[in-house]
Amino acid sequence: MDGNGDGIGDLKGMTEKLDYLKELGVTAVWMSPVYASPNVDNGFDISDYFSIMEEFGAMEDWEAFRDGAHAREIAIIMDLVLNHSSDQHQWFKESKQSRDNPFSDYYIWRDPGKDGGEPNGWLSVFGGRAWEYAPERGQYYLHLFAKEQPDLNWDDEEARERIFDIIRFWNEKGVDGYRVDAISYLDKGMDGRADLSEPFGTTSCANLEGTHRYIREMVAKTTRPDNLMTVGEVNIRNLQDAKDYASASRGEFDMAIGFVPPIVEIKTWSPQRFKQEAKEQYEALREDGWWARFLSNHDKPRQVSLYGNDNEYWLESAKMLGCYLHTLPGTPFVYQGEELGMTNIKLPSIEEYDDIDTKNYYRTILEKGASPQEALAESQVVSRDNARTPMQWDDSENGGFSTGRPWLAVHENYKTINAAQQMRDKDSVFCFYQSLIRLRKENPVLVHGDFALCCPQEGPVIAYTRSLDGVAWLAAHNFSGQEQGLFIGSIPFYVP
Ligand code: GLC
Ligand code: CA
Repeated sequence: MDGNGDGIGDLKGMTEKLDYLKELGVTAVWMSPVYASPNVDNGFDISDYFSIMEEFGAMEDWEAFRDGAHAREIAIIMDLVLNHSSDQHQWFKESKQSRDNPFSDYYIWRDPGKDGGEPNGWLSVFGGRAWEYAPERGQYYLHLFAKEQPDLNWDDEEARERIFDIIRFWNEKGVDGYRVDAISYLDKGMDGRADLSEPFGTTSCANLEGTHRYIREMVAKTTRPDNLMTVGEVNIRNLQDAKDYASASRGEFDMAIGFVPPIVEIKTWSPQRFKQEAKEQYEALREDGWWARFLSNHDKPRQVSLYGNDNEYWLESAKMLGCYLHTLPGTPFVYQGEELGMTNIKLPSIEEYDDIDTKNYYRTILEKGASPQEALAESQVVSRDNARTPMQWDDSENGGFSTGRPWLAVHENYKTINAAQQMRDKDSVFCFYQSLIRLRKENPVLVHGDFALCCPQEGPVIAYTRSLDGVAWLAAHNFSGQEQGLFIGSIPFYVP
Protein backbone atom coordinates (compact mmCIF):
# COMPACT_ATOMS: atom_id res chain seq x y z
CA MET A 1 0.00 0.00 0.00
CA ASP A 2 1.31 3.40 -1.01
CA GLY A 3 0.80 5.89 1.82
CA ASN A 4 2.04 9.07 0.14
CA GLY A 5 0.95 8.86 -3.49
CA ASP A 6 4.38 8.45 -5.13
CA GLY A 7 3.42 5.08 -6.61
CA ILE A 8 5.64 3.00 -4.31
CA GLY A 9 4.33 0.93 -1.44
CA ASP A 10 5.65 2.12 1.92
CA LEU A 11 5.58 1.69 5.68
CA LYS A 12 2.91 4.34 6.21
CA GLY A 13 0.65 2.52 3.76
CA MET A 14 1.38 -0.80 5.45
CA THR A 15 0.52 0.65 8.83
CA GLU A 16 -2.84 1.81 7.47
CA LYS A 17 -3.56 -1.78 6.46
CA LEU A 18 -2.77 -3.48 9.74
CA ASP A 19 -6.46 -3.83 10.54
CA TYR A 20 -6.86 -5.76 7.31
CA LEU A 21 -4.21 -8.24 8.46
CA LYS A 22 -5.87 -8.53 11.83
CA GLU A 23 -9.19 -9.19 10.11
CA LEU A 24 -7.59 -11.92 8.01
CA GLY A 25 -6.28 -13.45 11.22
CA VAL A 26 -2.55 -13.73 10.56
CA THR A 27 -0.34 -13.64 13.64
CA ALA A 28 2.94 -12.57 12.05
CA VAL A 29 4.11 -10.53 9.08
CA TRP A 30 7.26 -11.31 7.11
CA MET A 31 8.38 -8.04 5.58
CA SER A 32 10.52 -8.16 2.47
CA PRO A 33 13.73 -6.14 2.94
CA VAL A 34 13.01 -2.49 3.82
CA TYR A 35 16.61 -1.40 4.44
CA ALA A 36 18.44 1.30 2.49
CA SER A 37 19.17 -0.10 -0.96
CA PRO A 38 19.85 1.02 -4.53
CA ASN A 39 17.15 -1.49 -5.43
CA VAL A 40 18.95 -3.46 -8.10
CA ASP A 41 17.21 -6.57 -6.78
CA ASN A 42 14.15 -5.15 -5.02
CA GLY A 43 15.87 -4.44 -1.74
CA PHE A 44 17.93 -7.64 -1.62
CA ASP A 45 21.00 -5.46 -2.20
CA ILE A 46 21.44 -3.55 1.04
CA SER A 47 23.66 -0.48 1.31
CA ASP A 48 22.92 0.28 4.97
CA TYR A 49 21.47 -2.34 7.30
CA PHE A 50 20.72 0.21 10.00
CA SER A 51 18.42 2.49 8.05
CA ILE A 52 15.21 2.31 6.05
CA MET A 53 14.94 2.68 2.27
CA GLU A 54 13.96 6.28 1.61
CA GLU A 55 11.06 5.35 -0.67
CA PHE A 56 9.58 3.30 2.17
CA GLY A 57 9.87 6.01 4.82
CA ALA A 58 12.09 6.63 7.82
CA MET A 59 12.93 4.70 10.99
CA GLU A 60 10.00 6.38 12.78
CA ASP A 61 7.67 4.91 10.15
CA TRP A 62 9.11 1.47 10.73
CA GLU A 63 8.63 1.95 14.48
CA ALA A 64 5.03 3.02 13.94
CA PHE A 65 4.44 -0.12 11.91
CA ARG A 66 6.06 -2.23 14.63
CA ASP A 67 3.97 -0.64 17.37
CA GLY A 68 0.78 -0.94 15.35
CA ALA A 69 1.49 -4.59 14.63
CA HIS A 70 2.35 -5.40 18.24
CA ALA A 71 -0.76 -3.60 19.49
CA ARG A 72 -2.73 -6.05 17.37
CA GLU A 73 -0.66 -9.02 18.54
CA ILE A 74 0.96 -9.42 15.15
CA ALA A 75 4.64 -10.38 15.24
CA ILE A 76 7.21 -8.88 12.89
CA ILE A 77 9.60 -11.00 10.88
CA MET A 78 12.33 -9.09 9.08
CA ASP A 79 14.22 -10.33 6.05
CA LEU A 80 17.95 -10.68 6.70
CA VAL A 81 20.08 -10.56 3.58
CA LEU A 82 23.50 -11.60 4.82
CA ASN A 83 25.07 -13.65 2.08
CA HIS A 84 25.82 -10.43 0.21
CA SER A 85 25.49 -6.67 0.56
CA SER A 86 25.06 -3.99 -2.07
CA ASP A 87 28.17 -2.82 -3.90
CA GLN A 88 27.15 0.60 -2.55
CA HIS A 89 27.61 -0.53 1.05
CA GLN A 90 30.40 1.38 2.83
CA TRP A 91 32.21 -1.89 3.57
CA PHE A 92 32.44 -2.76 -0.09
CA LYS A 93 33.42 0.73 -1.18
CA GLU A 94 36.35 0.53 1.25
CA SER A 95 37.14 -3.10 0.58
CA LYS A 96 37.68 -2.58 -3.11
CA GLN A 97 40.15 0.30 -2.64
CA SER A 98 43.18 -1.81 -1.79
CA ARG A 99 44.37 -5.17 -0.56
CA ASP A 100 45.31 -3.87 2.86
CA ASN A 101 42.52 -1.67 4.18
CA PRO A 102 40.53 -2.55 7.33
CA PHE A 103 37.68 -3.97 5.19
CA SER A 104 39.80 -5.75 2.60
CA ASP A 105 38.73 -9.22 3.75
CA TYR A 106 35.02 -8.46 4.20
CA TYR A 107 34.35 -9.72 0.67
CA ILE A 108 35.73 -12.56 -1.41
CA TRP A 109 38.65 -11.39 -3.49
CA ARG A 110 40.86 -13.56 -5.69
CA ASP A 111 43.71 -12.95 -8.05
CA PRO A 112 42.98 -13.48 -11.74
CA GLY A 113 43.33 -17.04 -13.03
CA LYS A 114 46.40 -18.16 -15.01
CA ASP A 115 45.05 -16.69 -18.25
CA GLY A 116 44.24 -13.41 -16.49
CA GLY A 117 40.54 -14.32 -16.46
CA GLU A 118 38.11 -15.24 -13.67
CA PRO A 119 39.44 -17.29 -10.74
CA ASN A 120 37.00 -20.10 -11.58
CA GLY A 121 34.18 -20.77 -14.04
CA TRP A 122 31.22 -20.09 -11.73
CA LEU A 123 28.12 -18.48 -13.20
CA SER A 124 25.96 -16.07 -11.22
CA VAL A 125 22.24 -16.51 -10.61
CA PHE A 126 21.30 -13.33 -12.47
CA GLY A 127 23.35 -13.94 -15.60
CA GLY A 128 26.99 -14.02 -16.68
CA ARG A 129 30.06 -14.89 -14.64
CA ALA A 130 30.04 -14.82 -10.85
CA TRP A 131 33.24 -12.73 -10.79
CA GLU A 132 33.76 -9.05 -11.45
CA TYR A 133 37.16 -7.41 -11.89
CA ALA A 134 38.02 -4.37 -9.75
CA PRO A 135 40.96 -2.48 -11.29
CA GLU A 136 41.62 -0.67 -7.98
CA ARG A 137 42.75 -3.94 -6.40
CA GLY A 138 43.73 -5.80 -9.52
CA GLN A 139 41.51 -8.62 -8.29
CA TYR A 140 38.14 -10.20 -8.88
CA TYR A 141 35.32 -10.24 -6.33
CA LEU A 142 32.70 -12.95 -6.10
CA HIS A 143 28.99 -12.31 -6.60
CA LEU A 144 26.79 -15.41 -6.65
CA PHE A 145 23.85 -13.12 -7.53
CA ALA A 146 24.04 -9.78 -9.43
CA LYS A 147 27.38 -7.99 -9.73
CA GLU A 148 25.89 -5.27 -7.53
CA GLN A 149 25.52 -7.93 -4.79
CA PRO A 150 29.09 -8.85 -3.73
CA ASP A 151 29.26 -11.89 -1.44
CA LEU A 152 30.31 -11.20 2.12
CA ASN A 153 33.25 -13.20 3.43
CA TRP A 154 31.95 -15.24 6.36
CA ASP A 155 35.37 -16.84 6.81
CA ASP A 156 36.53 -13.52 8.22
CA GLU A 157 35.81 -13.44 11.94
CA GLU A 158 35.60 -9.68 12.19
CA ALA A 159 33.19 -9.47 9.24
CA ARG A 160 31.01 -12.11 10.91
CA GLU A 161 30.91 -10.16 14.16
CA ARG A 162 29.91 -7.00 12.30
CA ILE A 163 27.15 -8.98 10.56
CA PHE A 164 25.94 -10.27 13.93
CA ASP A 165 25.82 -6.66 15.15
CA ILE A 166 23.19 -6.00 12.48
CA ILE A 167 20.98 -8.72 13.92
CA ARG A 168 21.56 -7.53 17.49
CA PHE A 169 20.50 -4.03 16.44
CA TRP A 170 17.17 -5.27 15.06
CA ASN A 171 16.64 -7.56 18.04
CA GLU A 172 16.87 -4.45 20.20
CA LYS A 173 14.35 -2.71 18.02
CA GLY A 174 11.76 -5.32 18.86
CA VAL A 175 11.75 -7.66 15.88
CA ASP A 176 10.18 -11.05 16.69
CA GLY A 177 11.87 -13.22 14.12
CA TYR A 178 13.79 -13.39 10.88
CA ARG A 179 13.57 -14.90 7.45
CA VAL A 180 17.19 -15.40 6.48
CA ASP A 181 17.83 -14.92 2.78
CA ALA A 182 19.90 -17.18 0.51
CA ILE A 183 21.86 -18.62 3.41
CA SER A 184 23.13 -21.94 1.98
CA TYR A 185 26.25 -20.49 0.40
CA LEU A 186 28.26 -18.92 3.22
CA ASP A 187 31.14 -21.38 2.96
CA LYS A 188 32.27 -21.19 -0.67
CA GLY A 189 34.49 -24.26 -0.42
CA MET A 190 37.00 -22.86 -2.88
CA ASP A 191 39.77 -24.89 -1.26
CA GLY A 192 38.59 -27.91 -3.24
CA ARG A 193 35.36 -28.81 -1.41
CA ALA A 194 32.96 -27.12 -3.84
CA ASP A 195 31.77 -29.27 -6.71
CA LEU A 196 33.29 -27.40 -9.63
CA SER A 197 31.51 -29.56 -12.20
CA GLU A 198 28.39 -27.55 -11.30
CA PRO A 199 28.25 -24.37 -13.41
CA PHE A 200 26.38 -22.12 -10.99
CA GLY A 201 28.26 -20.98 -7.90
CA THR A 202 25.12 -21.49 -5.84
CA THR A 203 24.81 -25.16 -6.78
CA SER A 204 28.53 -25.75 -6.59
CA CYS A 205 29.00 -24.67 -2.97
CA ALA A 206 25.51 -25.25 -1.52
CA ASN A 207 25.17 -26.62 2.01
CA LEU A 208 28.84 -27.15 2.86
CA GLU A 209 29.73 -27.91 6.47
CA GLY A 210 31.22 -24.45 7.03
CA THR A 211 27.87 -22.90 6.17
CA HIS A 212 26.15 -24.98 8.82
CA ARG A 213 28.84 -24.01 11.31
CA TYR A 214 28.34 -20.30 10.61
CA ILE A 215 24.56 -20.61 10.89
CA ARG A 216 24.91 -22.30 14.29
CA GLU A 217 27.27 -19.59 15.43
CA MET A 218 24.88 -16.87 14.24
CA VAL A 219 21.87 -18.45 15.94
CA ALA A 220 23.76 -19.06 19.18
CA LYS A 221 25.08 -15.52 19.34
CA THR A 222 22.10 -13.53 18.09
CA THR A 223 18.61 -15.01 17.85
CA ARG A 224 18.77 -17.79 20.46
CA PRO A 225 19.63 -15.52 23.42
CA ASP A 226 16.60 -13.37 22.61
CA ASN A 227 14.43 -16.39 21.80
CA LEU A 228 13.54 -15.18 18.31
CA MET A 229 12.08 -17.30 15.52
CA THR A 230 14.19 -17.99 12.44
CA VAL A 231 13.25 -19.39 9.08
CA GLY A 232 16.09 -19.96 6.65
CA GLU A 233 15.76 -19.76 2.90
CA VAL A 234 17.89 -22.73 1.98
CA ASN A 235 18.81 -25.13 -0.75
CA ILE A 236 17.09 -28.40 0.12
CA ARG A 237 18.24 -31.12 -2.28
CA ASN A 238 17.37 -34.11 -0.17
CA LEU A 239 15.88 -35.09 3.15
CA GLN A 240 19.20 -34.91 4.94
CA ASP A 241 19.46 -31.21 3.98
CA ALA A 242 16.00 -30.59 5.46
CA LYS A 243 17.03 -32.33 8.69
CA ASP A 244 20.31 -30.45 8.87
CA TYR A 245 18.70 -27.03 8.60
CA ALA A 246 15.46 -27.54 10.52
CA SER A 247 15.99 -30.08 13.32
CA ALA A 248 15.95 -28.61 16.81
CA SER A 249 18.98 -30.61 17.92
CA ARG A 250 21.14 -28.99 15.23
CA GLY A 251 20.77 -25.48 16.69
CA GLU A 252 20.21 -23.97 13.25
CA PHE A 253 16.82 -22.71 12.01
CA ASP A 254 13.37 -23.23 13.50
CA MET A 255 12.02 -23.81 10.00
CA ALA A 256 13.38 -23.85 6.48
CA ILE A 257 11.97 -22.51 3.25
CA GLY A 258 13.37 -24.51 0.37
CA PHE A 259 14.28 -22.56 -2.71
CA VAL A 260 13.33 -23.98 -6.12
CA PRO A 261 13.86 -21.79 -9.21
CA PRO A 262 10.46 -20.87 -10.73
CA ILE A 263 11.35 -22.36 -14.10
CA VAL A 264 12.13 -25.70 -12.45
CA GLU A 265 8.93 -25.60 -10.39
CA ILE A 266 6.81 -24.82 -13.47
CA LYS A 267 8.28 -27.76 -15.35
CA THR A 268 8.41 -30.34 -12.58
CA TRP A 269 5.47 -29.84 -10.23
CA SER A 270 2.68 -32.39 -10.20
CA PRO A 271 0.19 -33.73 -7.66
CA GLN A 272 2.26 -36.94 -7.65
CA ARG A 273 5.40 -35.04 -6.68
CA PHE A 274 3.50 -33.08 -4.02
CA LYS A 275 2.25 -36.30 -2.45
CA GLN A 276 5.65 -37.91 -2.45
CA GLU A 277 7.27 -34.84 -0.91
CA ALA A 278 4.60 -34.23 1.70
CA LYS A 279 5.04 -37.77 2.95
CA GLU A 280 8.83 -37.79 2.92
CA GLN A 281 9.14 -34.36 4.47
CA TYR A 282 6.73 -35.28 7.22
CA GLU A 283 8.75 -38.38 8.03
CA ALA A 284 12.03 -36.47 7.95
CA LEU A 285 11.11 -33.79 10.47
CA ARG A 286 8.38 -35.32 12.62
CA GLU A 287 10.66 -36.29 15.50
CA ASP A 288 12.69 -33.18 15.93
CA GLY A 289 11.88 -30.50 13.36
CA TRP A 290 9.22 -28.28 11.85
CA TRP A 291 8.08 -27.31 8.37
CA ALA A 292 7.53 -23.93 6.74
CA ARG A 293 4.71 -24.29 4.22
CA PHE A 294 4.13 -22.03 1.26
CA LEU A 295 2.82 -22.21 -2.26
CA SER A 296 3.61 -18.59 -3.13
CA ASN A 297 6.22 -15.99 -2.42
CA HIS A 298 7.86 -12.98 -4.07
CA ASP A 299 10.08 -15.27 -6.18
CA LYS A 300 7.35 -17.39 -7.77
CA PRO A 301 4.46 -16.98 -10.18
CA ARG A 302 1.03 -16.69 -8.52
CA GLN A 303 -0.17 -20.00 -7.11
CA VAL A 304 -3.64 -20.00 -8.65
CA SER A 305 -2.06 -19.49 -12.08
CA LEU A 306 0.72 -22.02 -11.52
CA TYR A 307 -1.02 -24.90 -9.72
CA GLY A 308 -4.66 -24.12 -10.45
CA ASN A 309 -6.84 -22.82 -13.22
CA ASP A 310 -7.01 -19.02 -13.06
CA ASN A 311 -9.82 -18.93 -15.58
CA GLU A 312 -12.69 -21.41 -15.57
CA TYR A 313 -12.00 -22.71 -12.03
CA TRP A 314 -10.42 -19.61 -10.55
CA LEU A 315 -12.49 -19.55 -7.37
CA GLU A 316 -12.36 -23.31 -6.81
CA SER A 317 -8.62 -23.53 -7.40
CA ALA A 318 -7.80 -20.56 -5.21
CA LYS A 319 -9.77 -22.04 -2.32
CA MET A 320 -8.49 -25.56 -2.84
CA LEU A 321 -4.87 -24.39 -2.74
CA GLY A 322 -5.58 -22.41 0.42
CA CYS A 323 -7.06 -25.50 2.03
CA TYR A 324 -4.04 -27.58 1.01
CA LEU A 325 -1.65 -25.02 2.48
CA HIS A 326 -3.47 -24.77 5.81
CA THR A 327 -4.09 -28.47 6.42
CA LEU A 328 -0.55 -29.75 5.79
CA PRO A 329 1.72 -30.16 8.80
CA GLY A 330 3.80 -27.03 9.42
CA THR A 331 3.41 -23.28 9.59
CA PRO A 332 1.55 -21.80 6.60
CA PHE A 333 3.01 -18.70 4.95
CA VAL A 334 0.45 -16.73 2.93
CA TYR A 335 1.87 -14.33 0.36
CA GLN A 336 0.12 -10.94 -0.10
CA GLY A 337 -2.82 -11.19 -2.47
CA GLU A 338 -2.88 -14.98 -2.36
CA GLU A 339 -5.79 -14.64 0.05
CA LEU A 340 -7.66 -12.89 -2.79
CA GLY A 341 -6.63 -15.39 -5.45
CA MET A 342 -4.55 -12.80 -7.30
CA THR A 343 -3.29 -14.07 -10.66
CA ASN A 344 -0.26 -13.83 -12.96
CA ILE A 345 0.05 -10.80 -15.20
CA LYS A 346 1.21 -10.56 -18.83
CA LEU A 347 2.93 -7.24 -19.40
CA PRO A 348 3.00 -6.21 -23.09
CA SER A 349 6.75 -5.53 -23.35
CA ILE A 350 9.94 -6.46 -21.52
CA GLU A 351 10.50 -2.78 -20.66
CA GLU A 352 7.48 -2.87 -18.39
CA TYR A 353 9.06 -5.55 -16.22
CA ASP A 354 11.08 -4.44 -13.21
CA ASP A 355 12.62 -7.70 -11.97
CA ILE A 356 16.35 -8.21 -12.72
CA ASP A 357 15.78 -11.95 -12.99
CA THR A 358 13.08 -11.54 -15.66
CA LYS A 359 15.23 -9.19 -17.72
CA ASN A 360 18.16 -11.57 -17.52
CA TYR A 361 15.96 -14.52 -18.44
CA TYR A 362 14.61 -12.66 -21.47
CA ARG A 363 18.15 -11.89 -22.66
CA THR A 364 19.25 -15.48 -22.20
CA ILE A 365 16.33 -16.82 -24.26
CA LEU A 366 17.05 -14.30 -27.02
CA GLU A 367 20.70 -15.39 -27.08
CA LYS A 368 19.55 -18.97 -27.55
CA GLY A 369 17.86 -17.90 -30.78
CA ALA A 370 14.26 -17.22 -29.75
CA SER A 371 12.33 -14.37 -31.37
CA PRO A 372 11.46 -11.36 -29.18
CA GLN A 373 7.83 -12.53 -29.07
CA GLU A 374 8.83 -16.02 -27.95
CA ALA A 375 11.23 -14.63 -25.37
CA LEU A 376 8.55 -12.32 -23.99
CA ALA A 377 5.99 -15.13 -23.83
CA GLU A 378 8.38 -17.34 -21.83
CA SER A 379 9.43 -14.52 -19.55
CA GLN A 380 5.82 -13.67 -18.76
CA VAL A 381 5.28 -17.18 -17.41
CA VAL A 382 8.33 -17.36 -15.13
CA SER A 383 8.60 -13.71 -14.07
CA ARG A 384 8.86 -12.92 -10.37
CA ASP A 385 6.90 -9.76 -11.17
CA ASN A 386 3.81 -11.97 -11.46
CA ALA A 387 3.81 -11.97 -7.68
CA ARG A 388 5.00 -8.40 -7.24
CA THR A 389 2.22 -6.41 -8.91
CA PRO A 390 0.50 -4.04 -6.49
CA MET A 391 -2.00 -5.40 -4.01
CA GLN A 392 -5.58 -5.03 -5.22
CA TRP A 393 -7.41 -3.26 -2.40
CA ASP A 394 -10.59 -2.09 -4.12
CA ASP A 395 -12.07 -1.24 -7.52
CA SER A 396 -10.96 2.40 -7.56
CA GLU A 397 -8.16 3.55 -9.86
CA ASN A 398 -4.93 1.50 -9.54
CA GLY A 399 -6.82 -0.98 -7.39
CA GLY A 400 -6.72 1.51 -4.53
CA PHE A 401 -2.97 0.87 -4.17
CA SER A 402 -1.84 4.39 -5.02
CA THR A 403 -3.17 7.74 -6.13
CA GLY A 404 0.01 8.14 -8.22
CA ARG A 405 1.42 6.04 -11.03
CA PRO A 406 2.28 2.61 -9.55
CA TRP A 407 5.93 1.47 -9.78
CA LEU A 408 4.74 -1.73 -11.47
CA ALA A 409 1.52 -2.22 -13.45
CA VAL A 410 -1.60 -3.13 -11.49
CA HIS A 411 -3.34 -6.23 -12.85
CA GLU A 412 -6.32 -5.21 -14.95
CA ASN A 413 -8.54 -7.70 -13.11
CA TYR A 414 -8.53 -5.49 -10.00
CA LYS A 415 -12.12 -4.47 -10.75
CA THR A 416 -13.28 -8.01 -10.01
CA ILE A 417 -10.49 -9.35 -7.79
CA ASN A 418 -9.99 -6.99 -4.85
CA ALA A 419 -10.03 -7.01 -1.06
CA ALA A 420 -13.00 -4.69 -0.50
CA GLN A 421 -15.31 -6.82 -2.63
CA GLN A 422 -14.11 -10.09 -1.11
CA MET A 423 -14.47 -8.90 2.46
CA ARG A 424 -18.16 -8.34 1.75
CA ASP A 425 -18.72 -11.69 0.02
CA LYS A 426 -18.96 -14.71 2.32
CA ASP A 427 -18.08 -17.07 -0.54
CA SER A 428 -14.88 -15.26 -1.41
CA VAL A 429 -11.33 -16.53 -1.31
CA PHE A 430 -10.62 -14.00 1.44
CA CYS A 431 -13.37 -15.30 3.71
CA PHE A 432 -12.26 -18.85 3.00
CA TYR A 433 -8.70 -18.00 4.11
CA GLN A 434 -10.11 -16.29 7.16
CA SER A 435 -11.95 -19.51 8.07
CA LEU A 436 -8.88 -21.65 7.46
CA ILE A 437 -6.76 -19.49 9.74
CA ARG A 438 -9.46 -19.58 12.42
CA LEU A 439 -9.80 -23.36 12.09
CA ARG A 440 -6.09 -23.79 12.70
CA LYS A 441 -6.24 -21.63 15.78
CA GLU A 442 -9.22 -23.49 17.20
CA ASN A 443 -8.24 -27.06 16.35
CA PRO A 444 -4.87 -28.35 17.59
CA VAL A 445 -5.31 -31.38 15.31
CA LEU A 446 -4.47 -29.17 12.33
CA VAL A 447 -1.28 -28.00 13.96
CA HIS A 448 -0.05 -31.02 15.90
CA GLY A 449 -1.96 -33.91 14.33
CA ASP A 450 -0.27 -36.88 12.68
CA PHE A 451 -0.30 -36.87 8.91
CA ALA A 452 -1.16 -39.84 6.68
CA LEU A 453 -1.89 -39.86 2.97
CA CYS A 454 -5.04 -41.74 2.03
CA CYS A 455 -5.16 -41.49 -1.75
CA PRO A 456 -3.52 -43.36 -4.62
CA GLN A 457 0.01 -42.16 -5.48
CA GLU A 458 -1.13 -41.62 -9.06
CA GLY A 459 -3.93 -39.29 -10.06
CA PRO A 460 -4.92 -35.69 -9.31
CA VAL A 461 -6.39 -36.11 -5.82
CA ILE A 462 -4.28 -35.31 -2.78
CA ALA A 463 -6.06 -36.54 0.32
CA TYR A 464 -4.81 -37.11 3.83
CA THR A 465 -5.87 -37.32 7.41
CA ARG A 466 -4.62 -35.34 10.34
CA SER A 467 -5.27 -37.03 13.64
CA LEU A 468 -4.75 -36.28 17.30
CA ASP A 469 -6.19 -37.64 20.54
CA GLY A 470 -8.94 -39.64 18.89
CA VAL A 471 -9.95 -36.84 16.48
CA ALA A 472 -9.30 -37.29 12.76
CA TRP A 473 -9.81 -34.78 9.98
CA LEU A 474 -9.83 -35.59 6.29
CA ALA A 475 -8.63 -33.07 3.71
CA ALA A 476 -9.11 -33.91 0.02
CA HIS A 477 -7.95 -31.77 -2.90
CA ASN A 478 -8.70 -32.26 -6.55
CA PHE A 479 -5.98 -30.80 -8.78
CA SER A 480 -7.88 -31.53 -12.00
CA GLY A 481 -10.79 -29.96 -13.88
CA GLN A 482 -12.88 -33.14 -13.57
CA GLU A 483 -14.80 -34.55 -10.64
CA GLN A 484 -13.01 -37.38 -8.87
CA GLY A 485 -14.00 -40.23 -6.64
CA LEU A 486 -11.96 -41.46 -3.72
CA PHE A 487 -12.27 -44.59 -1.60
CA ILE A 488 -11.10 -44.54 1.98
CA GLY A 489 -11.35 -48.16 2.98
CA SER A 490 -14.74 -49.02 1.56
CA ILE A 491 -16.21 -45.56 2.03
CA PRO A 492 -16.62 -43.60 -1.21
CA PHE A 493 -15.98 -39.85 -1.23
CA TYR A 494 -16.85 -37.39 -3.93
CA VAL A 495 -14.17 -34.74 -4.62
CA PRO A 496 -15.64 -31.92 -6.74
C1 GLC B 1 16.52 -14.84 -2.34
C2 GLC B 1 15.37 -13.86 -2.45
C3 GLC B 1 15.35 -13.30 -3.83
C4 GLC B 1 16.66 -12.58 -4.07
C5 GLC B 1 17.86 -13.49 -3.81
C6 GLC B 1 19.13 -12.71 -3.69
O1 GLC B 1 16.33 -15.95 -3.12
O2 GLC B 1 14.16 -14.47 -2.09
O3 GLC B 1 14.26 -12.43 -4.03
O4 GLC B 1 16.72 -12.13 -5.40
O5 GLC B 1 17.74 -14.20 -2.61
O6 GLC B 1 19.16 -11.97 -2.49
CA1 CA C 1 4.99 5.70 -1.30
